[in-house]
Amino acid sequence: MAKSKIVFFCQECGFESAKWMGQCPACKAWNTFVEEPTVPKNSRGAKASPKEIASAVPTRLSQVSLQSQPRTLTGIGELDRVLGGGIVKGSLVLVGGDPGIGKSTLLLQMCRLLAQKSVPLLYISGEESLQQIKMRAQRLGNFEKDMMMLCETDLDIVEGVVRKYKPEIVIIDSIQTMYRQEIASAPGSVSQVRESTGVLMQLAKGLDITIFIVGHVTKEGVVAGPRVLEHMVDTVLYFEGDRHASYRLLRAVKNRFGSTNEIGVFEMGGGGLTQVTNPSEYMLNGRPQEASGSVVSCAMEGTRPILIEVQALVCRTNFNMPRRTAAGTDYNRVNLLMAVLEKRLGLPLDNCDCYVNIAGGMRLNEPAIDLAIVCAIISSYKNFAVSPKTIMFGEVGLTGEVRAVNMVEQRVAEAKKLGFSMCLVPQVNLKNVSGISGITVIGISSVQDVLKYIK
Ligand code: TYD
Ligand code: MG
Repeated sequence: MAKSKIVFFCQECGFESAKWMGQCPACKAWNTFVEEPTVPKNSRGAKASPKEIASAVPTRLSQVSLQSQPRTLTGIGELDRVLGGGIVKGSLVLVGGDPGIGKSTLLLQMCRLLAQKSVPLLYISGEESLQQIKMRAQRLGNFEKDMMMLCETDLDIVEGVVRKYKPEIVIIDSIQTMYRQEIASAPGSVSQVRESTGVLMQLAKGLDITIFIVGHVTKEGVVAGPRVLEHMVDTVLYFEGDRHASYRLLRAVKNRFGSTNEIGVFEMGGGGLTQVTNPSEYMLNGRPQEASGSVVSCAMEGTRPILIEVQALVCRTNFNMPRRTAAGTDYNRVNLLMAVLEKRLGLPLDNCDCYVNIAGGMRLNEPAIDLAIVCAIISSYKNFAVSPKTIMFGEVGLTGEVRAVNMVEQRVAEAKKLGFSMCLVPQVNLKNVSGISGITVIGISSVQDVLKYIK
């Protein structure tokens, strides 16, 4: 069974030693060692005393007083929104994502804004040198106020430094580079990642500081994904997006201090990330007018409606087997919808190639965009343009019926906001939107029905 261990830390440089020393071998400072117990590795190792057991009393729910958590606003509205309204003191936040997606950039930008508010910060990087961080920081704009940086991968030293300087916010970039010497396995292995997170959690709760942990999500087996530590942290944010497209989505997967339905939208550019406060406008940018095979629909990302353009190209095939592709949506779903069109509308699509694409690089698996996919295919096949002022959504079933979707009101309101004049919704959802004026809302019950309204 693991026992709690006493170690000595140099208060100057964080050097750790098993015994007290007069002079630190690392930084040569004198009389800087203090004794600090490390966290027992196995919590069962330290047994609660009878007094502690006796003093633990359950509380009634009604007697718990609610006091709002003090939150620090980062100044990046999209990030604050995903965090549930700002940074909560004493919380542990995991920011996960593919390598190169922009995690370090986002956190550095957050640091820049927080430094302006004189929040004490410590940015610990195990991946980049101080010069590299500085170079990136310069691309992001002026750092009017300083922040502290440290390049370190030894977690014991990291812990020592954090305890010594007690910043309000610490960034660990990344958890896969951190290691503890007592654990034999390599940095990035599951046991190292889990142990490191455990230590950081104790630090965050013990000192009441906020720690952001960066975690790379890579293919299984190579490096331990941050998924193993999702349950240990308070908040899990995933940063995602196509590396070749410039937009990025920040999604809350778990949040003990807010809703997980929130997303933040950013765009990666030459000067770092910029917020996209109106994602619908951004996604519809550059949309062709009066072109066949282009239809606008509304998808939901969490509670946020985002208008997207569905494109289809249908042309005669030169081969025995027609080619079909679906970019940004489910391939099998597109095949299924084409089969519905063949059977219910009698469209001879069997000798046609068909390419479906969600413009802008979004990935959507929501059935609500079925109706738009169907109409885009019809529009391209028959070579007529759907009115650019028309938007539609609805799930299409196997008999060609148009089925209900959720959050209809929000979707219609977003369409109205973006200046659309006609909205095709599932017939059964029509009652949900009776209160909205300023946009023509039409109920559709089947794919046969929709033909009347798109040309
Ligand atoms: P980075 O934040 O280093 O990714 P992560 O920490 O998630 O691994 O982002 C790296 C990518 O972002 C890199 O390919 C370059 C690009 N980038 C820009 O396009 N503009 C910028 O201003 C910055 C700082 C990075
Ligand atoms: Mg990075």
